[in-house]
Amino acid sequence: MAHIVSTRPLIDEGLSGVRDDHTLTVCDPPDGSTRSVDDLIALTDGADVLLSVLADPITEELFAARPELQMVAQYAVGVDNIDLDAAAAHDVAVTHTPDVLTDATADQAWALLLAAARRVPAADRYVREGRFERWETTLLMGTELSRKTLGIVGMGRIGTAVARRALGFGMEVVYHNRTRANPTVERQVNARYVGLDELLKTSDVVSLHCPHNEDSHHLLDAAAFANMKASALLVNTARGPVVDEAALVDALANGEIAGAGLDVFEEEPDVHPGLVEQERVVLAPHLGSATTGTRTRMAQMCVASITALLEGADHVPHRLV
Ligand code: GLV
Ligand code: GLV
Repeated sequence: MAHIVSTRPLIDEGLSGVRDDHTLTVCDPPDGSTRSVDDLIALTDGADVLLSVLADPITEELFAARPELQMVAQYAVGVDNIDLDAAAAHDVAVTHTPDVLTDATADQAWALLLAAARRVPAADRYVREGRFERWETTLLMGTELSRKTLGIVGMGRIGTAVARRALGFGMEVVYHNRTRANPTVERQVNARYVGLDELLKTSDVVSLHCPHNEDSHHLLDAAAFANMKASALLVNTARGPVVDEAALVDALANGEIAGAGLDVFEEEPDVHPGLVEQERVVLAPHLGSATTGTRTRMAQMCVASITALLEGADHVPHRLV
């Protein structure tokens, strides 16, 4: 019987199975705040497995302090918070939850895209504030999407799912990726491969779906915004630091681009105050995978990986280290 520690409450249904066979300690941070490495070291006293989320810093210090830890099961597809080299050096397995959140995240990109294009939050505030007194010809006008160009940066699973949805909206799709997608995928979603410069210059909406790494850090900076259409919208459901947030605030304030839909931020949970001031910016607190179905499947995937590892299976699903 192993001891599993989850740093947060997860959807209960997803965890059945692990509860029967092992001890599961579910922690609940009192103020929901980000945990420090010291907090995590304290939580993992006697733990064999740690169930972690993106906000948990999983570092060399933690592995060194807890040599009995066998595994980190990350409740996310991204593992930016985990030092994978340190995990490997300490012989700790790391798993994550790819694929199951692809459609939910693509939906969220489209929710933000549509909300920014049609000013949904501003319209909602307008009605709630009791300001809807008559129909007006030019009230809260937005941007139409059909026949416009959607530029997708990062054509992995999520980028492809976003492109597929664009077919239904009658948008042209261009994309940029480190390597060109295979021709079948390009044909299926009717997407054309272009350089980043061309994508920025020609897109009416730029949607980010690349991971954050050294190459993509501040990929969208002041020069990139200067390249974009003044009428363009930016959607980011990928990772905050792919965008230079201060440069985005300037670009919005100077009318270099028209608006944005943002699910992720450079210094989560902090949001640049300049973004909050902009009416054409729609903000969400990192909700890409936040549907009941997806979050349940993510928990089930963590459990499947944990069970396989603890049972000594040859193949541990979704293992990165
Ligand atoms: C969410 O951002 C994830 O990586 O799962
Ligand atoms: C993540 O699931 C991606 O590959 O886009």
